[in-house]
Amino acid sequence: MGFDFDEKTRRELGYKLIDQVNEYFSSLPERPVQLPLEQRTFGALTDRMPEVGDDAARVLEDVIREMIDKGFHVPSANYFGLMNPTPTYVAVLAEALVAAINPQLATLARSQLASKIEKEVVRWIGERVGWNGTTAFDGTFTSGGNEANFSGLALALAHKFPGAVEDGVASIGAQPTVYASGESHHSLDKSVGLLGLGRKSLRRVELNERVQVDPGLVEDAIKQDLAAGHKPFAIVATAGTTNSGAIDDIAALAELAQRYGLWLHVDGAYGGAAIFSEKHRGLVRGIEKADSITLDPHKWLSMPFAAGIILTRHPQALEDAFGVVTPYMPRTKNPTQIDNFKIGVQWSRRMNSLKFYLTLRVHGRKAYEELIDRQLRLAASFADWVRGSGSFELGAPQVLPIVNFRVQMPGAAEADVEAANQAIVEEVTRDGVRWISHTHVNRRSVIRMMVISYLTEERHLTQLQEALTAAADKFRAAAVSRRA
Ligand SMILES: Cc1ncc(COP(=O)(O)O)c(C=O)c1O
Repeated sequence: MGFDFDEKTRRELGYKLIDQVNEYFSSLPERPVQLPLEQRTFGALTDRMPEVGDDAARVLEDVIREMIDKGFHVPSANYFGLMNPTPTYVAVLAEALVAAINPQLATLARSQLASKIEKEVVRWIGERVGWNGTTAFDGTFTSGGNEANFSGLALALAHKFPGAVEDGVASIGAQPTVYASGESHHSLDKSVGLLGLGRKSLRRVELNERVQVDPGLVEDAIKQDLAAGHKPFAIVATAGTTNSGAIDDIAALAELAQRYGLWLHVDGAYGGAAIFSEKHRGLVRGIEKADSITLDPHKWLSMPFAAGIILTRHPQALEDAFGVVTPYMPRTKNPTQIDNFKIGVQWSRRMNSLKFYLTLRVHGRKAYEELIDRQLRLAASFADWVRGSGSFELGAPQVLPIVNFRVQMPGAAEADVEAANQAIVEEVTRDGVRWISHTHVNRRSVIRMMVISYLTEERHLTQLQEALTAAADKFRAAAVSRRA
């Protein structure tokens, strides 16, 4: 009975776990991402809740085996997936430490040092944005990009319509509107909906051939809304779209935002990480002009979930949007920073920053410089392979380590190309060894691969290319035999 273990048991369980995690990490360069298709049939789990416990070592062993033997392995070097990385090992250790110490990040009074460490990380990131010296800024860690984007738009709303925080959006007296790329992330739809603006208040604007939102069309949309009596209040620039990794022209959108008195939020959940590279930070040129920025260390910066950040160079807006006064939250005498519960969506909050802090302390910024450069080179060489493959063609420009490509089917209807792309993704992922996906970019079907694991090397891409070529050959042979 009870949850406590004696010292010996704690050690034994801990060592058992760390040995397995260590073994798991050793396996990642070669580990299949998941089980072969025919074995991926997990029935509903129907066990009853245990009334009494069982032997801890046995249960731990069972659960570890289940999760590792049957799980989906995002950290594998063969996961060319959405934006989820292999976590750094020290981040894994940091997560265990955070769970053990369980700092309560809601208030400074119960997390003095933890809150300070977090603030230091926020400062490091803001300085990489370029907000050092004269620009005041602040920010807070979030559960991820969804919460950070929501926060960015909440800040914009509170800043542009201060009365709306207390009196509601109806007090604005007109429809507030937001402008973003047609390829921007759907957390923005959720955000405007949850802020009470209505999902239609998000104007998804058409793109140019580089899959960037067209600033001229954004301006047209703003003018139309003004003429209709609406109240434009924010533009969202995306730095690294989910589908193709396209980066909007942030500087042009910043200029537009300034001209019309709008808030500029940059959704840099993925591509914002380019600020960690001296060589490639030009990719997000203009990011320093943003009023607020989303950045997700659990994407390009190799952190385990959850780690997002919202940064703003209008610190007061954080308090305007999220500040509340309570009698029960403990106070600190002479506080050196504001309590997190007053500047963010969350209340009780875990320390999502320690893993990033520890990774930076152990590996340094230059490790990210190297990661970003290497992954960009790998993706560029994969794009070169696509161009010369004879079977595929690029579906969008490769800007970040994401490559969109399509089966070459000259003259074929879009629906047939889509069916072929999907069949190839299915074939390549059937044995579970590697993972790629299918999506649409600018309404066209594409196969999507992404270099996201720091363990992925040229040889993994060569194996993927071989699998893609074999799948394309198989698809063509089947099509010929269907016609015969
Ligand atoms: C561009 C972009 N913004 C925001 C998000 C949402 O981030 P999260 O999944 O961390 O909530 C994503 C998720 O992939 C994304 O790609």
